[in-house]
Amino acid sequence: MRCSQRRDGMMGDHSPNETDLRWMRRALELAARGRFGASPNPMVGAVILDVEGRLAGEGFHERVGGPHAEINALAEAGERARSGTLYVTLEPCNHYGKTPPCTDAILEAGMARVVIAIPDPNPQAGGGAARLRSGGVQVTMGVAAVEARRLNYRWLHWASAQKPWITLKAAVSLDGKVATRRGDSRWITCEAARRRSLELREEYDAILVGAGTVRADNPRLTRRLGLNPNGRWLRIVLDSALDIPADAALIREDPESVLLVHTDRAPADRRERFRDAGVRLLEIEPGPDGRPALTTLLRALAAEPVVSLLVEGGPAVHGSFNDAGLADEIELFLAPVIIGGVQAPAAIGGLGAGMLDEAKRYIIVSVTRHDTDVEIRVIRANEADVHRAD
Ligand SMILES: NC(=O)c1ccc[n+]([C@@H]2O[C@H](COP(=O)([O-])OP(=O)(O)OC[C@H]3O[C@@H](n4cnc5c(N)ncnc54)[C@H](OP(=O)(O)O)[C@@H]3O)[C@@H](O)[C@H]2O)c1
Repeated sequence: MRCSQRRDGMMGDHSPNETDLRWMRRALELAARGRFGASPNPMVGAVILDVEGRLAGEGFHERVGGPHAEINALAEAGERARSGTLYVTLEPCNHYGKTPPCTDAILEAGMARVVIAIPDPNPQAGGGAARLRSGGVQVTMGVAAVEARRLNYRWLHWASAQKPWITLKAAVSLDGKVATRRGDSRWITCEAARRRSLELREEYDAILVGAGTVRADNPRLTRRLGLNPNGRWLRIVLDSALDIPADAALIREDPESVLLVHTDRAPADRRERFRDAGVRLLEIEPGPDGRPALTTLLRALAAEPVVSLLVEGGPAVHGSFNDAGLADEIELFLAPVIIGGVQAPAAIGGLGAGMLDEAKRYIIVSVTRHDTDVEIRVIRANEADVHRAD
């Protein structure tokens, strides 16, 4: 939906800050439309007002490799951008990446003012505000900054920590179990919850499971809702000795997007078999538990680039991420069913906390009902500042 035309500022009925906030919020709304396609780039939105303060153009970054938000807004505004104001949710880029610098286009368009929500932490792309200032443009930074950080929290984490944002996802019974004592796990949650969980796959750059889940459930691990316009998608299995069946469903379906992570324990014939099937292999040195060292793996994934990683289990893999303090976010789909039994696995295995003050604390970001079930989304307490209610 497009905004109706306004003459904010000219009428004198709003202070400039209120006007800035209003248009920046509109730019943030536009940015959110890039939720499925923008990654590994951030979601960015832009609004252009003409010299009289009327809406002249809007844009957002729809998909990686496509035009940036500012360029789309400039194209819509045309000549009306001259001497106007640009609202943009992230500092305009100042480098040649897949597209030329947005700062050049803004300067060429002759814009008088640029209002930015947050700076670009990427040293390569940053410096846009300084470049615009030196080109005679008036720059305002920090408008709706908390909302802008909240929108792109996964990307900002990756850009500053050089490690993917990690979300553990599980479908659990009311008593926290992910399967029965005999390993039956299909299905604990209702269809609506499972659909929402499939939607998550469209938002993340990669999905990861352990060899145990492949053996027990033979999942396809595909994106099937068609929400993400990019073909790019990595399906990762942690399997130290390359023990999973070579005809596993996830390998039969789109082997090129599979990354099997193993250690030097993997025998040569199995490596060859998977390579022949078209699968990528990644050998990682073993950690203290003899399995691929997670920190090394995460560094390699960040460089791919994998900005966000959805870990779909099972309990052993979730336990390793939890014990290593690597779970930034948790998505729990909770069904009103009791499985019971001490032998039925709970969502997070591993060693766990000895004392409560060692337990990892999270902040609830949202609780959403899906038919009979509930989705609880939590973020690590020390990461959650921008997610707290204003
Ligand atoms: N309800 C749900 O949401 C859900 C989701 C997934 C699974 N499940 C259920 O969970 C059960 C399978 O659980 P699981 O714990 O055996 O499976 P898992 O966590 O998927 O796989 C564990 C295996 O992964 C390998 N691995 C490699 N690196 C690892 C690491 N850093 N940490 C831990 N494991 C690593 C290990 O084998 P190597 O030592 O040989 O490498 C290990 O045996 C099944 O019953 C399945 O149905 C439920």
